[in-house]
Amino acid sequence: MIFSKKRTKTEDNGLNVIPNHLAIIMDGNGRWATKRHLPRTAGHKAGSENFVKTVDECARLGIKYLTVYAFSTENWNRNQTEVDGIMEIMRSYIVKYVPILDKKNIRLRILGDLNYFDEESRNALIASVKKLENNTAFTLCIALSYGGRHEILQAVNRLLAEGKNEVTEKEFEEALYTAGIPDPDFIIRTSGEERISNFLLWQSAYAEYYFTKVLWPDFDESELRKALVEFGKRKRRFGK
Ligand code: IPE
Ligand code: IPE
Ligand code: MG
Repeated sequence: MIFSKKRTKTEDNGLNVIPNHLAIIMDGNGRWATKRHLPRTAGHKAGSENFVKTVDECARLGIKYLTVYAFSTENWNRNQTEVDGIMEIMRSYIVKYVPILDKKNIRLRILGDLNYFDEESRNALIASVKKLENNTAFTLCIALSYGGRHEILQAVNRLLAEGKNEVTEKEFEEALYTAGIPDPDFIIRTSGEERISNFLLWQSAYAEYYFTKVLWPDFDESELRKALVEFGKRKRRFGK
């Protein structure tokens, strides 16, 4: 395993295996806010701050791909105030962090159906991905307006439109939002829910899962460490 020079032995003691691709279902923002008698949007704000810290920590640990589930196709059905609040947080994230991601040599991919966004947000997302596309240190994938079934269907429809009536696994994977990204090795879900909620249905075929009761805004470096130590103990067999 490649250890970054910045890390000390004590700090990272126990992390002998690091997933190449970590995925996180960042759940529990609403309950975090409700517990504090705050509006749900305050939970999303706290969640987005934790997301920023997590990206840095994953890059520092030598993880090469991080995918976060930020907003599902089903989440569009939440009340308008909450959706508007989340979109506002997303827009300010882009403005503030895209130049920082660029300085850190981080590539960005958005996984999801951008047609759901208003034109301005859609263009901002496309421009951000384009600006960072040649970065090489780390790949950050944000699942935004993402649904696993939706992704599979759009791939099927795209292939049919190209005139195909039979495809290989490789061709199919190239039509998914995750084209060119290796499958996730480890999927963490916070907040105590033990389900996948339409996340990376195809790609997670052999992923290891980790569920914790900790709410996403509270899932800090030490919680990530605990999860990664657990990953190091898993025996992956891939059917062999
Ligand atoms: C996850 O937190 C963020 C999104 C789904 C956008 P939730 O908003 O689902 O928080 P809970 O599950 O209601 O606590
Ligand atoms: C899954 O969380 C989606 C995200 C974390 C973005 P939800 O809170 O939407 O999922 P359910 O409704 O509990 O299954
Ligand atoms: Mg939730």
